[in-house]
Amino acid sequence: MKAVILAGGTGTRLKPLTYWTNKHLLPIGTYPMICHGVTKLREAGIRDIVLVTNRGSLGSFADILGSGKDWGVSIVYRVQEEAGGIAQALELARPVMKGKDKFVVLLGDNLFEESLKPYCEQYAKQSEGAMVLLKKVADPHRYGVPLLDEKSGRIVTIEEKPEQPKSDYCVTGLYFYDTQVFEMIDGVKPSRRGELEITDVNNAYALSGKLTYRELTGWWTDAGTFESLEEAGRRLKGAIT
Ligand code: DAU
Repeated sequence: MKAVILAGGTGTRLKPLTYWTNKHLLPIGTYPMICHGVTKLREAGIRDIVLVTNRGSLGSFADILGSGKDWGVSIVYRVQEEAGGIAQALELARPVMKGKDKFVVLLGDNLFEESLKPYCEQYAKQSEGAMVLLKKVADPHRYGVPLLDEKSGRIVTIEEKPEQPKSDYCVTGLYFYDTQVFEMIDGVKPSRRGELEITDVNNAYALSGKLTYRELTGWWTDAGTFESLEEAGRRLKGAIT
């Protein structure tokens, strides 16, 4: 299975740190954030990675990761000229994802404790549609929040950053897709904040009854705010996972 890591965006919630660097280059423990994602995917058996980032930071990513050789993977880069949303960043991987392959998408600011390998194996066996990973959180209003149909193991719908969340679950930033995702992206319109939202793409799968889920058992955090960046640093102190 191939993977796409999305490492563009503006890192607004981490300003002023992100005035001078891309969020995913900030240190977590003794490594830049991006290294944790790359090694997590490699540990899951993934060898081919498409990394999407902004033009100004591309050189720094290449300095750290190069072709991927030193990290046990092969990396190709795509440039997101403007932060037009997660789904718009993902669309840039389209020319690289040919045929009917299934693949994984990782938001570069998401950090996971457990191995992602079992989830990759489970998705490989899924006959159609997409799969997402959920985690129970204390502050679901910060995330995409799913409404679950526990009987069927499917997601009915997802609300992005709802004021009144319908569950305690958050949709984490690891998504499993087939190449139909690019047609789903074609059908998505910019949201009120002018971005192509990944939640709208996932809702297109949910609407057709093709969005399954698994619940993570280990800790999970994003690192997009000062609080969560600190938490990630505490959890991954000195470690490369
Ligand atoms: O962390 C999980 C959450 O991530 C989900 O629960 C939400 O449903 C999902 O929308 C997302 O929410 P955030 O508000 O945290 O997304 P953020 O804008 O911080 O972007 C997440 C990652 O995607 C980040 O690592 C950078 C990348 N990105 C984002 C944008 C907007 C891009 O590569 N390009 C972009 O244009």
